[in-house]
Amino acid sequence: MPSLETNLGKLLKLKNPLILASGINDSNAASLIRGAKDGAGAVTSKSCNVKGRKGHDPPVLISNEHYILNAMGLPNPGAEKMRDELALAVKECAKLGVPVIASVFGESAEEFAEAAQIVAEAKPALIEADISCPNTMNKTFFSDKPESVSAVTRAMKNATKIPISVKLAPNVPSLSLLAKAAEDAGADCITAINTMPGMAIDPIARRPILTNKVGGMSGPALKPISLRCVYEISRAVKIPIIGTGGIITGSDAAEMLVAGASAVGVGSAFYYRRNSFKLIAEELEKVMKENGCSKISDLRFQE
Ligand SMILES: Cc1cc2nc3c(=O)[nH]c(=O)nc-3n(C[C@H](O)[C@H](O)[C@H](O)COP(=O)(O)O)c2cc1C
Repeated sequence: MPSLETNLGKLLKLKNPLILASGINDSNAASLIRGAKDGAGAVTSKSCNVKGRKGHDPPVLISNEHYILNAMGLPNPGAEKMRDELALAVKECAKLGVPVIASVFGESAEEFAEAAQIVAEAKPALIEADISCPNTMNKTFFSDKPESVSAVTRAMKNATKIPISVKLAPNVPSLSLLAKAAEDAGADCITAINTMPGMAIDPIARRPILTNKVGGMSGPALKPISLRCVYEISRAVKIPIIGTGGIITGSDAAEMLVAGASAVGVGSAFYYRRNSFKLIAEELEKVMKENGCSKISDLRFQE
C-alpha cells in the first residue's frame, strides 16, 4: 500500500497530508481532538483575535451541493480563552501524533503579533495568520498588497519563534507577488486559499439571504480556483503550501498535491461527508496505488 506519511517542508511531520482547515468544527479543544481522532494529519483552530468577536447576525450560512456561502464574521472568545483550549488540544493530539495549528487575526500588524504571542503559550506546531477573511473585509483583510502582507508577517515573526503560515485570498490580482512578499518577510509556509467572496439572493423577498449581504464561498465550486492559486504560488516561492479549497474526495486531494501543495486543507468536506478524513485518506491511497505512486512526493506536476 502507498504511504500517506509526509512532511510540510521542514516544519511538520504528518501521518497523512490532510489538515483540518480553520473555522470548520475547530473552535475548542474537544472539536480539535475530534478532528485528530477522525484521522486528520494535523488540525487548525478557528481564528481568534486578542479581544474576541461576536460575529455577524444570522443567517450566516447557506449551502447546496455545489458550495457553502458563509458570513460567520470570525466569532471567537478571544486569544486567551483560545490559548487554553489549544493547550489541551496540543496535549491530547500529541498522543495521536497530530500537530495542532493555531490561527489568529487582528485589525493591525501589532494585533496579529499580540494574538500570536498569546496562542504561542499553548505551543502549537505552527501559527497561521488569517489575513484573508472576506467577511470582515474592511477591518482584517491584509492580503491584497505586498506591503501589508509583509508588515503582518514581520510583526508575527518578531513576536514568536513558532513557524508562521500566511493565509492568502483568491480575489487578488497577483498572488505570486503576495506569496513572495510573505516569503521574503520570513513566512515559513503559505496557506492558500481562504473563501471567495460571493452573494446569494432571495428573488421573492428581493433581498440578500445572508444578513451580512456577502459571504465567502467554499466547497466543491472553489476547487478550480484553489488549484490555480496553489499552482501559481508554487511557482513563485520555495516554502511549503497548505493547499485548501474544495477538497472533498481523495482525487481532489491528489489534484491539490500535484498542483504544488505539500499538504491539503480540508474544511467544507465536513458538511458534505461523514468521516471525511478517513474517506479522503482511503481514496487518496487508492488513487496513488492505481497510478503507481508509493509516496506523497510522487504526486508531482509533470511539465
Ligand atoms: C463556516 C466557515 C468558517 C470559516 N472560518 C475561518 C476562519 O475562522 N479562519 C480562516 O482562516 N478560514 C476560515 N474559513 C475558511 C476555510 O478555512 C477554508 O480556507 C475555505 O473554507 C476553503 O476550504 P474548503 O472548501 O475545504 O472549505 C471558514 C470556512 C467556513 C466554511
